[in-house]
Amino acid sequence: MKTPDNSIKEFYANVINSVGDGVIVLDMKHRITLMNPAAEEITGVSISQAEGSVFSMFFGKEEPLAEMVSKTSSNGMTISDHENVVLKKGSHLTPVNVTTSPLILADGEQIGTVLVLRDISNIRELEDAVRHADRLSTLGTLAAGLAHEIKNPLGGIKGAAQLLERELPVESELHDYTSIILKEVGRVNKIVEELLSISTPRKLEMGHVNLNQILGEIVMLQKNVSRTKSVTFQQNFDLSIPPAIADGALLTQLFLNLITNAVEAVVSDGLIRITTRVVSDYGMSKKGERLSRMVAVDIADNGTGMTGEQMENIFTPFFTTKSKGTGLGLAICHKIVSEHRGMIKVDSESGRGTTFTVLLPLLQ
Ligand SMILES: Nc1ncnc2c1ncn2[C@@H]1O[C@H](COP(=O)(O)OP(=O)(O)O)[C@@H](O)[C@H]1O
Ligand SMILES: [Mg+2]
Repeated sequence: MKTPDNSIKEFYANVINSVGDGVIVLDMKHRITLMNPAAEEITGVSISQAEGSVFSMFFGKEEPLAEMVSKTSSNGMTISDHENVVLKKGSHLTPVNVTTSPLILADGEQIGTVLVLRDISNIRELEDAVRHADRLSTLGTLAAGLAHEIKNPLGGIKGAAQLLERELPVESELHDYTSIILKEVGRVNKIVEELLSISTPRKLEMGHVNLNQILGEIVMLQKNVSRTKSVTFQQNFDLSIPPAIADGALLTQLFLNLITNAVEAVVSDGLIRITTRVVSDYGMSKKGERLSRMVAVDIADNGTGMTGEQMENIFTPFFTTKSKGTGLGLAICHKIVSEHRGMIKVDSESGRGTTFTVLLPLLQ
């Protein structure tokens, strides 16, 4: 038989363990007296390690958090912060919304501090996506106008250069110059075409697309072109993923761009891992709606990686760090993904590598 005292304890433990937000309770000496599994998940600190230890032992370096705790415990104020607290789990950063409240007995005596933590990575990702989309649409409109204006004079230059080339004797030096003009005109033309493809609306040719097949074909193709570099491709395909309803040609372009970038990013002993998987709990839907199933494609490389500043800009047209890059590849990828109502995410560490993840919705 349980004693009543035990069952009350168990009851409260169940209550706190059932809360979806992370809860950590501290006594007045800032010792952790209680922590629930959600807090364990968010902070990456295990309950058994944490309970009984001083708070600063695990969270001393998280300055905004430590400051909130010390304020609440010294003057009994409740403090909320959804902007400044970022927890570090290894190399992974999790933005969290934190509230610290005083733990008060019925007689008014304060016996500790309660922290409530909520992982807001998904919200941050959505905010970033909206910000990017905003910037892209302004730039896209500008670029489209420009591209359009350039196309006609470019046609004129090309026509004139072709005439010149025909008129000049093949052995003349001027003939070589016209070849250069034609080659460079071709390059500008390609950029203009790509720009127009980002910014003009088009009709998607939807069909049943086997993602594993598309990815397999691209890998086969890349294996042949990247002979000059030692690159190993690893394919982790979930063979049970249903076909996506998508525009196959556009998805090929999307993954080809991402895989080409990965090949270009690796230095020596390149490893590019391509994974396909089904994600069923991606929390993008609004309350009450059925959670949609999505398919995720990860393209991970062990190449140069990127700095945070680079990551901010990679989807912007013309952003490139390559001497011969156009900086349009990822802008096109972004457009294709949003046309399919999907999401593209990037995770990268300078010197270690980069993972692009494309999420595409599956029809229910
Ligand atoms: N896998 C990757 N690893 C490291 N950096 C990358 C990767 N993919 C893209 N980038 C960065 O993003 C920039 C923009 O890429 P993209 O739009 O494809 O244009 P481009 O390849 O012509 O430079 C690249 O110049 C590079 O700095
Ligand atoms: Mg590229």
